Amino acid sequence: MKARSSAHGQTPVGRNLELPSYLEQSDAVRDRFRRLKQRPVVLEVESLGKTFDSAQGTVTALRDISFKTHRREFVCVIGPSGCGKSTLIRILAGLESATSGRVLLDGKAVHGPGPDRGMVFQGYTLFPWLTVKKNVMFGLEMAGRGKLAAEEEAMQWIDLVGLGKFARSYPHQLSGGMKQRVAIARALANQPRILLMDEPFGALDAQTRARMQAYLMEIWANIDITILFITHDLDEAIFLADRILVLKAHPGEVSELIEVPVAQPRKPEQLLTPEFLATRKRLEALIHHPEKEPGLNGDHLNMVRMVSVNDEVESVF
Ligand SMILES: Nc1ncnc2c1ncn2[C@@H]1O[C@H](COP(=O)(O)OP(=O)(O)OP(=O)(O)O)[C@@H](O)[C@H]1O
Ligand SMILES: [Mg+2]
Repeated sequence: MKARSSAHGQTPVGRNLELPSYLEQSDAVRDRFRRLKQRPVVLEVESLGKTFDSAQGTVTALRDISFKTHRREFVCVIGPSGCGKSTLIRILAGLESATSGRVLLDGKAVHGPGPDRGMVFQGYTLFPWLTVKKNVMFGLEMAGRGKLAAEEEAMQWIDLVGLGKFARSYPHQLSGGMKQRVAIARALANQPRILLMDEPFGALDAQTRARMQAYLMEIWANIDITILFITHDLDEAIFLADRILVLKAHPGEVSELIEVPVAQPRKPEQLLTPEFLATRKRLEALIHHPEKEPGLNGDHLNMVRMVSVNDEVESVF
């Protein structure tokens, strides 16, 4: 028997739910993926590998990573800490070079950074001495726009992220969510082909994060942009993504590329649908129960004694 949503769109709590397979797609979702795959490929990653040499020896951060993203697709990347997510996005941005394999953007090999790729990181990377407007104008002026044209274009992007009233504010006068909206406006102002986002909402509280997700979905729906978005948060990945690239660690390899079976456009109520829960269950299995991680003593972390040997320590449970 399949789990059924209640009249309020919620899954009944407290029953032993039998979820559908996350591979099962409704006709609408299957049709959407069929159309999505007919769109041109924007980003192609071919057998990408990356090793780092350090005093401790050679670390294989990424091994044989291959995938494609189509125009206006939203791909999330998840995986355990240290599996190479940031290394991957830095290579795509041209900030790091690959040891093997290659990256193609619109069919052309990527070498070094370029305005065709916009980046948004977790840390706030705005220039603190420039106003919101000047921060967004910066890249436009660097690209050769005159001051007036840069100002006009910058204001369009600032309005798009809903911060028109704050154009003259400085970053320290903004909340964390507002700063990230400016960072998104600044990245989009160069009209990149792809937006590369490394845990952009990771430092925000849950409510602001949910609002930022809704903003990003709205922006994505309204402009021609392909997004690659790294997150630790499984719900965030399912809520945002068309497909989720799951990586495993040591070395970082593709574990699975999941087609999210939840219909678009997404709404918060969908977090409780059987499709959403089935995808979450699959991601949990891939992320939280992989084969034993090296460095751990069995299933337990080694405990550091913080009391003297003779102290009686009560259990916390
Ligand atoms: N500059 C570097 N020199 C040596 N090793 C590095 C370097 N950068 C990354 N690594 C190693 O590569 C691996 C992948 O690191 P990376 O930061 O890409 O992981 P991540 O998936 O982004 O982790 P997190 O989820 O914690 O952000 C790790 O083992 C890390 O120690
Ligand atoms: Mg990282």
